[in-house]
Amino acid sequence: MSTRENIPLFDLTVSREAIKEVTASLRSGWLSTGPRVAQFERALTRKLDAEQAVAVNSATAGLAVALKAIGIGPGKEVITSPFTFVATIEAILYCGGTPVLADVNPETLTLDPESVASVLTRHTAAIVPVDIAGHPCDYVGLRLVCGKRRIPIISDSAHAFGATFHSKSIPQWADASVYSFYATKNLTCGEGGAIVSNRKSYMDRVRYLSRHGMTTNAFQRQVQGGWAYDVVDLGFKANMSDIHAAVGLGQLRQFESDQAKRRQLVVRYYQNLETLGDRLELPYERPDCRSAWHLFIVKLVSGRHNLTRDRFIELMKKQGIECGVHYQPVFDFSYYRSMRRWKKRCPNVVSAAERVVTLPLYPKLTLKQVDTICNRIIGILK
Ligand SMILES: Cc1ncc(COP(=O)(O)O)c(C=O)c1O
Repeated sequence: MSTRENIPLFDLTVSREAIKEVTASLRSGWLSTGPRVAQFERALTRKLDAEQAVAVNSATAGLAVALKAIGIGPGKEVITSPFTFVATIEAILYCGGTPVLADVNPETLTLDPESVASVLTRHTAAIVPVDIAGHPCDYVGLRLVCGKRRIPIISDSAHAFGATFHSKSIPQWADASVYSFYATKNLTCGEGGAIVSNRKSYMDRVRYLSRHGMTTNAFQRQVQGGWAYDVVDLGFKANMSDIHAAVGLGQLRQFESDQAKRRQLVVRYYQNLETLGDRLELPYERPDCRSAWHLFIVKLVSGRHNLTRDRFIELMKKQGIECGVHYQPVFDFSYYRSMRRWKKRCPNVVSAAERVVTLPLYPKLTLKQVDTICNRIIGILK
């Protein structure tokens, strides 16, 4: 009997280094925010060539903190993309801000600066571009749109750890960037995130807002030997624990080899799937960008076969290949139905949403498995 190989959408490799770091953290007796978080933050700033990083317990919390720190609240509009995970919109709402939705570029699926310009108002207080799948947004185009008003750009770079735009990391282009270290991300802490920026006074606010608005944390008080602290604002419980930072520190050591592996797999996908020509649109990497290749999102081309996207995913599943959908646009969810009024302004989002399929991409995947995945796709689409 032949055994068919099942290939999951995602499979994680936890490095030996991460296991060692976590064990050391547990043995240290200090589990919450402490020396390992500080060490992880320093490692992040070095990696991203940025001034400051504040590690947090998720990118969702990080986005809320980053937005609150620039004063987002009632009456403030924040322009973002509906083609994202719901966390982007949630963070704006947590702060009391109003999400305003703009369309994406049909090739990169990142926020389209022209569409952003068309929804700017005098109430626009921030732009939250999403580096979808790890591909950087057009930060030059977005800066031009922000123009003389210097509207802050807080990037949702949850997917983009390791990505560059014009050879520089994203925090060099945005006022602040928020990364996710969720279990499936290119760099993981299990759960976690970080806000990264070159703006010192802004990051001072970010730091205390991430710990209930308190001026110091427990570890600092222990080191300094005093109990007193002040609470200077309404903050969030968003601090990262030392255990999670330990996972991140360990994983960081294999990050570059993981990224090289992702690129190798991506090249193989291109080589194998190019034969499908106009039936399948492959992801586009702009020449001035380096994608982090968090996700490999292809688009079925309508009119070139008689399959719906959902039927395609079903057929792949039957053949042992798990695919995903990133993303259903936010305005298609029942809770967010009030945002459907933005739909007509976002034709590229609507068109992409019906056709996108995420294929497996993670360092544990082998080139042979990519060949298997591609053969199944070719079998279904030819
Ligand atoms: C685009 C985007 N933004 C934000 C988040 C939230 O990240 P976290 O799970 O770390 O809160 C995610 C999570 O997958 C995401 O995909």
